[in-house]
Amino acid sequence: MSTSALSLASTVRLSSGCMMPLLGLGVYQNYHTAGSVVDALAAGYSGIHHLEEIENAALELPSVNQIELHPFCQQKPIVAWCRARNIVVQAYCPLIRGRMDHPTIVALAKKYNRDPAHILLRWSLQHGFSPLPKSEHKERIISNANLYDFELDGDDMAALDALDKGDEGAIQWNPIHVP
Ligand SMILES: NC(=O)c1ccc[n+]([C@@H]2O[C@H](COP(=O)([O-])OP(=O)(O)OC[C@H]3O[C@@H](n4cnc5c(N)ncnc54)[C@H](OP(=O)(O)O)[C@@H]3O)[C@@H](O)[C@H]2O)c1
Repeated sequence: MSTSALSLASTVRLSSGCMMPLLGLGVYQNYHTAGSVVDALAAGYSGIHHLEEIENAALELPSVNQIELHPFCQQKPIVAWCRARNIVVQAYCPLIRGRMDHPTIVALAKKYNRDPAHILLRWSLQHGFSPLPKSEHKERIISNANLYDFELDGDDMAALDALDKGDEGAIQWNPIHVP
């Protein structure tokens, strides 16, 4: 897979030639069952030491690594490791499971006149991640993809970057630490 020109374009091409959406929307895991896409996702959820085992065994690294990723849990070491190897970083829980009431997020939503979800998803996209927002509501699924008509400025990206709490910011069990 070539990731050298990753941008806010909405898809990346996997080594098989299949296209995978950068804005994953979760449902693709269920409905797009082309082998390579499923393989790529199944190889995810990994920490550096898991991936180093694969690398040290001279096996092919996954195309995509899916980890919890949002402003409170930015997982910088594993993100940097993946970036250095052109592994797409897919962000699960990008909406912090709906806990979007932090004053910084609320203030930015007001400033840009957008939903808090849009602020979090733009932050993720502008960092080059592939966010996987989930909703049971059609209107929100559509709305959560409506992201390409505004951009967070540098100061606002920095304000969100400053929310990182490392491991303590994770909202669910973090499999990257499994031995
Ligand atoms: N690989 C893994 O181990 C792993 C772990 C966790 C999750 N995931 C995947 O990551 C994806 C998302 O994760 P997630 O569901 O845990 O977290 P999430 O996408 O951060 O949050 C989902 C929550 O946000 C709410 N929501 C969605 N859009 C909203 C909006 N516009 N405004 C307000 N609230 C909104 C949803 O409520 P409503 O449904 O009521 O809209 C739901 O409660 C899923 O596809 C999941 O399968 C993977």
